Amino acid sequence: MKTIKLNNGIEMPQLGFGVFQVDDLITCQRAVSTAIDAGYRLFDTAQAYQNESAVGQAIKTSGISRDKFFITSKLWITNTLGTDPEKAIDHSLHELNTDYIDLYLIHMPFGDSFNAWRAMETAVKAGKIRAIGVSNFSPDQVTNLMLFNELKPAVNQIEVNPWNQQPALVDFNYKNNIQTEAWAPFAEGKQNIFTNPALTTIADNHRKTVGQVILRWLIQRGIVAIPKSVHTQRIAENFAIFDFHLSNEEMTMIQQLNQNHSEFFDPHDPEAIKTIVSGGRPGANKN
Ligand SMILES: NC(=O)c1ccc[n+]([C@@H]2O[C@H](COP(=O)([O-])OP(=O)(O)OC[C@H]3O[C@@H](n4cnc5c(N)ncnc54)[C@H](OP(=O)(O)O)[C@@H]3O)[C@@H](O)[C@H]2O)c1
Repeated sequence: MKTIKLNNGIEMPQLGFGVFQVDDLITCQRAVSTAIDAGYRLFDTAQAYQNESAVGQAIKTSGISRDKFFITSKLWITNTLGTDPEKAIDHSLHELNTDYIDLYLIHMPFGDSFNAWRAMETAVKAGKIRAIGVSNFSPDQVTNLMLFNELKPAVNQIEVNPWNQQPALVDFNYKNNIQTEAWAPFAEGKQNIFTNPALTTIADNHRKTVGQVILRWLIQRGIVAIPKSVHTQRIAENFAIFDFHLSNEEMTMIQQLNQNHSEFFDPHDPEAIKTIVSGGRPGANKN
């Protein structure tokens, strides 16, 4: 597996496995075990997904030593106040059944991010977390956090897929030595992404699938990708992306698909923020 060195020196696999919306714990554990068998070692969960325990259980029962894995979890916004972040970190460790978490992210730039960040810095010093980062943070929010704290985010996990490529944010992360990690690399299938003509043409050129082309496009741009699937064949398919190369022309064809618009939510939209804080999923009913 190709790895990327984060700004604190630790190595992160460039391809991983996400478990958002895999709410049933048995299904989640089975999917993670299948992914481990397929070769994945990076797993992306979150307190908000309520499946940290299933990820931890699959890793524990794999028979593979803990240090071969890279576990990511995320602090939810309602756990950012007072002493809640410390408690939330300890809760994640308990649920994941591990002594340390490789990467811990502030899930969204809402609530008391500064308080959460300082608790996460303390947890790094205590050996509970190896790297800390943010998710869905814009350049101004990352800059503000960096200027007033000791540790810089190692990762900014953001939406990146052919429909919403976020070039300015990816470029900002790159220039600040913050690793971009792409959530929803397939835009969860929205706008018929898997049958898009341009992507299908490129896939046919390489006898690969559209999903593999999208992941390859991200990998060639130096981005970490964490596709989700609960199907054995797709889990294996999404991992088989290191035996082909997209040409510059193909990379440009994909770049031209950018619509500069999220199919999910805009973290700057006050209505979306209210929906998220009240426990809803903005854009959840869009196809
Ligand atoms: N930080 C954040 O705010 C945030 C937000 C969203 C997601 N995430 C993270 O990013 C991960 C990935 O994003 P996501 O789960 O939202 O969406 P995604 O990975 O873009 O898409 C997942 C969807 O694509 C389908 N799929 C997967 N592989 C396929 C293939 N090869 N061919 C056809 N269909 C395929 C899956 O169906 P099946 O499962 O039925 O195969 C599922 O419906 C999440 O699991 C989570 O870890 C983070």
